[in-house]
Amino acid sequence: MTNELILAVETSCDETSVAVIRGGKEILCNLVSSQIETHEKYGGVVPEIASRQHVESITLMIEQAVQEAGVTLEELSAIAVTQGPGLVGSLLVGVIAAKTLAMALDIPLIGTHHIAGHIYANQLVHELVYPCVALVVSGGHTELVVLEREGVFRIIGRTRDDAVGEAYDKVARALKFPYPGGPHVDRLAGEAEEEIELPRAWLEPDSYDFSFSGLKSAVLAAINQANMKGLTLDKGALARGFQNSVIEVLVTKALRAVHAEGAKQLLLCGGVAANKGLRTALAARCESEQVPLLVPPMSLCSDNAAMIGAAAHLKWKHAAFTSLDMKAEPSFSL
Ligand code: KG4
Ligand code: ZN
Repeated sequence: MTNELILAVETSCDETSVAVIRGGKEILCNLVSSQIETHEKYGGVVPEIASRQHVESITLMIEQAVQEAGVTLEELSAIAVTQGPGLVGSLLVGVIAAKTLAMALDIPLIGTHHIAGHIYANQLVHELVYPCVALVVSGGHTELVVLEREGVFRIIGRTRDDAVGEAYDKVARALKFPYPGGPHVDRLAGEAEEEIELPRAWLEPDSYDFSFSGLKSAVLAAINQANMKGLTLDKGALARGFQNSVIEVLVTKALRAVHAEGAKQLLLCGGVAANKGLRTALAARCESEQVPLLVPPMSLCSDNAAMIGAAAHLKWKHAAFTSLDMKAEPSFSL
């Protein structure tokens, strides 16, 4: 058991986050500054604006994080940062800040994969048992990942088009909800009494891949048709149809992967893990099939630096440090 202090930085998209983690487990602080209000008026994240806001926030947040954690910069053991994937301009801000700190303090730099972060957010609150399967669902990602052992990842399924959160946001936008619209669609679906049946994209029988763009188009077509015919659209029934289609495919493929891989646990992670319908359906299926389901608390599901610190801890244990000439990798592979 190590007791190192890692300061972690996450700026891959529209959240600036800085955390201090002790021994890979104890969160001394996890500051998240969301840019949602800024991007809301554009209906989505504007990359240029996101990186500019990261620049404005990052230095102050590092100072504040160290202060809130009750540590000094000199006590830090390493600096961790999301190296990728993500928006290149956003990643660059975090990477440059992290490199500068590591160099100035003469301590190791640990470049971390964003998805490894989402997965290892679970480690902050649970004990992982291998092999396990992770279902990663966020605004930028939809992946099924097998973890054979600690830190060894194998992606067995991914989206072929929209990420699940992205599909939620596009459907929400068509239903006139503000960005990010996922929670609005979730709420509407939960309240609805009727359901408009929509297709499920199963793809090839043995495939763990996902596809949500056809489903999203079916929703948009239903909205257009109602508008053209001057009919009142039952938004709730449509949201429920969309959500049920998404959930059935996610849950079925995740459980199939768990059994096929002999996994001992299923991990749910990423911002869409907040979805009430998904949580309920997954919990019910896991209970009936006796599969332990791990879900981090919401504050650790959406983008945050504590999860980057947790993933970096695994590299710290093996002294797998990153060279100071590393670059931000918008398409970093796991
Ligand atoms: O992980 P995250 O914070 O950022 C990314 O890495 O993308 O995920 C944000 C995504 C957004 O697309 C948002 O609409 C979606 O998660 N989301 C939800 C819910 N809460 C957040 N989608 C569906 N239902 C929810 N309750
Ligand atoms: Zn994320």
